[in-house]
Amino acid sequence: MNLLAISGSLRKDSFNTALLRAVAARAKEGVEVTLADLASLPLYNQDLEAAYPAQAQALKDKIRAADAVIIATPEFNRSIPGVLKNAIDWTSRPYGDNAWKGKPVYVMGASSGPIGTAPAQYDLKKIMLYLDAYVLGQPEFYLGNVAGKFDGAGVLTDESTIEHIDKALATFTAFVERFRAA
Ligand code: FNR
Repeated sequence: MNLLAISGSLRKDSFNTALLRAVAARAKEGVEVTLADLASLPLYNQDLEAAYPAQAQALKDKIRAADAVIIATPEFNRSIPGVLKNAIDWTSRPYGDNAWKGKPVYVMGASSGPIGTAPAQYDLKKIMLYLDAYVLGQPEFYLGNVAGKFDGAGVLTDESTIEHIDKALATFTAFVERFRAA
């Protein structure tokens, strides 16, 4: 099973990217998690659609080739960051060629604040619903107060979060299997 992991942060020491690395490390044999790179995407501009940018096409191809997508979003001003929205906008276009249609999606998020990106995740789930992705509802994954849950090298050390990753991965991979069998 191939899972594409998308972090909504470009920051070198991003907790969301570090969370996805922890997810990749906990994946069971037979499940491969590959991190996408959003840094090279241009800002969305409908004028560019006629000569659709190679970086956006590459991301669309990766979403389509994956059995499912896991997104870890930061929360910026109680919503998703522009970097992530930009990537979603590109990969939903041109009209009628939306890469998210029918794709199983798991939403996670990490923040320095206490509510762990819950408001941002609801915005993201709303967008995914509109794009006809299949978003897993439970277990939710809100990682708040991240400082102290990772070591200096960005490795997740918090035991209860590691346990929650295992539970989320088990549930999500079973969910994805149902689509693969269909
Ligand atoms: C934040 N941060 C933040 N945190 C939160 O819990 N709720 C919020 O609304 C915001 N808003 C916000 C806006 C902007 C512009 C920035 C730069 C930051 C803090 C945020 O959770 C923190 O910077 C995380 O570390 C960002 O995620 P990464 O980059 O570590 O993955």
